[in-house]
Amino acid sequence: MFTAKAIQQDDKTSLYQDLTAQLAGLLSDERDAIANAANTAALLFTSLPDLNWAGFYFLRSPDELVLGPFQGKPACVRIAVGRGVCGAAVERRQTMLVEDVHAFPDHIACDAASRSELVVPLIRNGRVFGVIDLDSPLASRFDLEDQRGIEAVAEIYVKASNDL
Ligand code: SME
Repeated sequence: MFTAKAIQQDDKTSLYQDLTAQLAGLLSDERDAIANAANTAALLFTSLPDLNWAGFYFLRSPDELVLGPFQGKPACVRIAVGRGVCGAAVERRQTMLVEDVHAFPDHIACDAASRSELVVPLIRNGRVFGVIDLDSPLASRFDLEDQRGIEAVAEIYVKASNDL
């Protein structure tokens, strides 16, 4: 059984150290990509303050993301590559840190409460195969430290999991 330890929330450096250590433990005995995505989404959503959505989208064809495991309200199922914040992360092959989604012209509003968003691409052998998406009801919720932390989370997830 996985026993959640209290994750230090006083400063982000400690928070992401604790979070990545717990995630590595949580995924250490399992290779299934869906099970690991489900547990990663649950750990992110329950450990990080001020989120209203945390989850995965996977490329199920070269030009379309499809909703994967997540925590939060039901969300948009399909996102074309190049559309929205998630599709932009895939197309540009880079993390998207959006401080105010209202100012991002192509943002796709799955939940009207979302104000800021962080999307990190999942990359294996140079190929993007999905994204981790975090949404917050607070503007400017995410900074460079969150970006680096969630990029480390993505790396742990990719290394721990089989191809879909
Ligand atoms: N806002 C995202 C869509 C996914 S939801 O936030 C869960 C986007 O613009 O790609």
